[in-house]
Amino acid sequence: MDELKEKIDLKKLPSHIAIIMDGNGRWAQEKGQDRLFGHFHGVESVRDIVEGCAELGIGYLTLYAFSTENWDRPAYEVTGLMELLVETIRNEVGTLNKNNIRLHVIGDMTMLPEYARNELNEALELTAANTGLNLVMALSYSSRWELTEAVKSLAQDVRAGKLDPAAITQDTLQQYLSTKDFPDPELMIRTSGEYRISNFLLYQLAYAELYFTGVRWPDFRKKNLYEAILDFQGRERRFGKTSAQIQQDLISPEGTPKTPEAFCPKDNR
Ligand code: IPE
Ligand code: IPE
Ligand code: MG
Repeated sequence: MDELKEKIDLKKLPSHIAIIMDGNGRWAQEKGQDRLFGHFHGVESVRDIVEGCAELGIGYLTLYAFSTENWDRPAYEVTGLMELLVETIRNEVGTLNKNNIRLHVIGDMTMLPEYARNELNEALELTAANTGLNLVMALSYSSRWELTEAVKSLAQDVRAGKLDPAAITQDTLQQYLSTKDFPDPELMIRTSGEYRISNFLLYQLAYAELYFTGVRWPDFRKKNLYEAILDFQGRERRFGKTSAQIQQDLISPEGTPKTPEAFCPKDNR
């Protein structure tokens, strides 16, 4: 495992990693256990991955823990998950502070039971001064919920005369998202062999590198995280440009752009 870690180029780390932690239920059922047993063990993976990201010096880690759609699961599973959440936060705040990790939450907090909301708010306050890893929990979150809320507030500001519709830019829109304080994820990992986004950060993932693994979340450990980061570091991120441009930018970032005429004189066009 240390060999894998040593291969990581610390100068090319993704500034923000987002993870869809999937497969807890199947992991448990494959062992003849209740789905909640899988969620319970998923917490061990959360601990390991948070620690792994903090050790490497990753700036932001967003974990998709509960989606807006997950409220439609059987009541016993939803209640079990909420209790696990509260218990985990209560137990982990000390470790977060010890490791200088700041907790953030994105999602519809109004949907959470009051006891869970109170526990979360307390943890947010207790870790607010930390300056290391930013751990963002996506809870009762969905991207369509977030975008709808953003449009609502934006429309209100226009109606109040605070915002000129003609002046709206991508930066303006970004300011209305619940992720306004975080850079876009550069690497998105989904565990458990599912190849979909499931309403997660649809806007913010525009240029993220996507990494899918069959490993169920309760089995996902630092070693798997290192593999994902190494895979990310082997990719060429082009952002719409050509490969040659990217290579040129690497050699001389200020390189003089050539005009179309240089390749195809106007007379020949
Ligand atoms: C992910 O595991 C955790 C949550 C969605 C809360 P699942 O519970 O979705 O597990 P599978 O996908 O059914 O195996
Ligand atoms: C996505 O997993 C949400 C979380 C991991 C919290 P789901 O298990 O809910 O997604 P689908 O239903 O398989 O798309
Ligand atoms: Mg699932």
